Amino acid sequence: MYRQVLVLAVFAAIQCGFPASCARNLPLNYRPIIGILAQEKLEDDPHPNGTYIAASYVKYLESAGARVVPIRINRTREEYEKLFNAINGLLLPGGNVDIEKSQFAKVSRIFYDLAMKANNDSDHFPIWGTCQGFQQLTVLTSNKNLLTLTDTKEVTLPLTFSKGAKTSRLFKKFPKDVLQSLAEENITSNFHSWSLSMQNYSANAELKRFYRVLTTNTDGKIEFISTMEASHYPFYAVQWHPEKSPFEWIDKSGMVHTSSAVKASFYTAQFFVSEAMKNHHHFSSQIEEKNALIYNYQPFFNGLDSIFLQNYYFD
Ligand SMILES: *[C@@H]1O[C@H](CO)[C@@H](O)[C@H](O)[C@H]1NC(C)=O
Ligand SMILES: *[C@@H]1O[C@H](CO)[C@@H](O)[C@H](O)[C@H]1NC(C)=O
Ligand SMILES: *[C@@H]1O[C@H](CO)[C@@H](O)[C@H](O)[C@H]1NC(C)=O
Ligand SMILES: *[C@@H]1O[C@H](CO)[C@@H](O)[C@H](O)[C@H]1NC(C)=O
Ligand SMILES: *[C@@H]1O[C@H](CO)[C@@H](O)[C@H](O)[C@H]1NC(C)=O
Repeated sequence: MYRQVLVLAVFAAIQCGFPASCARNLPLNYRPIIGILAQEKLEDDPHPNGTYIAASYVKYLESAGARVVPIRINRTREEYEKLFNAINGLLLPGGNVDIEKSQFAKVSRIFYDLAMKANNDSDHFPIWGTCQGFQQLTVLTSNKNLLTLTDTKEVTLPLTFSKGAKTSRLFKKFPKDVLQSLAEENITSNFHSWSLSMQNYSANAELKRFYRVLTTNTDGKIEFISTMEASHYPFYAVQWHPEKSPFEWIDKSGMVHTSSAVKASFYTAQFFVSEAMKNHHHFSSQIEEKNALIYNYQPFFNGLDSIFLQNYYFD
């Protein structure tokens, strides 16, 4: 009997990762809806509308069994609170805005604070940050911009796994061959000028306490963090671009479309969607859900030489 209880308890802990969410013992939500935050468009983008979401992030989440709701910038706090209580996770995408002053930064602060509070109250709400989203999370957690210029634009790199990374929540269920490809092949796309150096991470008590370093890379001079997860919150961040391998097609260095790159991309998406399945927020009616989903918008084809093949544009 005792052994059975112990086995169940260990199983439950493995299932939900966080003791708090185990307490609720809810079934998984197989209809997860994830919010992707829109941002101010790139300076050289000729489209008449001012804000966008790159369609590759939408496809990335859809490929792993989630639906997407756009989170538009410049809305009221009440709208954001209502939306937060209707979605099961948040993705902060890559892009090129000011991570301290933009509307993107402002809205991510609102959702980050709501997510902290929810998770504190045993309401499992995951956040995923990619590239700029990674950088935004460092600012949200430390209240400072500690990023360093690195020579990391348009390069593909193999990940250097930290001790214990393979037992992290993010990587522990990855197939062995995917982990091996990530470690040995150049299959992660890097398109960033700024990075969180190991030095600046280690010197900042907030960041060090909050995040575990899972992988690092170097530009030849500076060692920077390429993958991390929060120790006590379901927050995950990659400085590289898993969504580009299957869904972006600009022909330039830094892009990689090999089978192992596409496969690795899928496992990151699948992991995050599995986190969103532990959340049970929902829209108050089917009509509200219908009106919020990204299917209400049409992606715009920017051309083959655009950094984002297709974008959803908003205001
Ligand atoms: C936000 O809305 C206000 C007024 O509605 C407008 O003046 C401002 O330009 C908007 N900003 C953005 C980024 O859309
Ligand atoms: C969440 O809990 C942590 C640790 O107890 C606390 O420092 C933080 O202020 C809380 N945040 C919110 C938004 O409740
Ligand atoms: C592959 O990664 C190594 C770093 O381990 C780097 O020096 C090299 O430039 C990369 N190759 C390409 C084609 O990006
Ligand atoms: C971050 O690291 C760089 C060197 O990589 C250093 O020049 C800078 O002062 C650091 N910033 C802070 C706030 O520690
Ligand atoms: C611009 O944004 C508005 C408001 O979301 C939308 O209705 C319209 O379709 C967008 N225009 C284009 C050309 O995408």
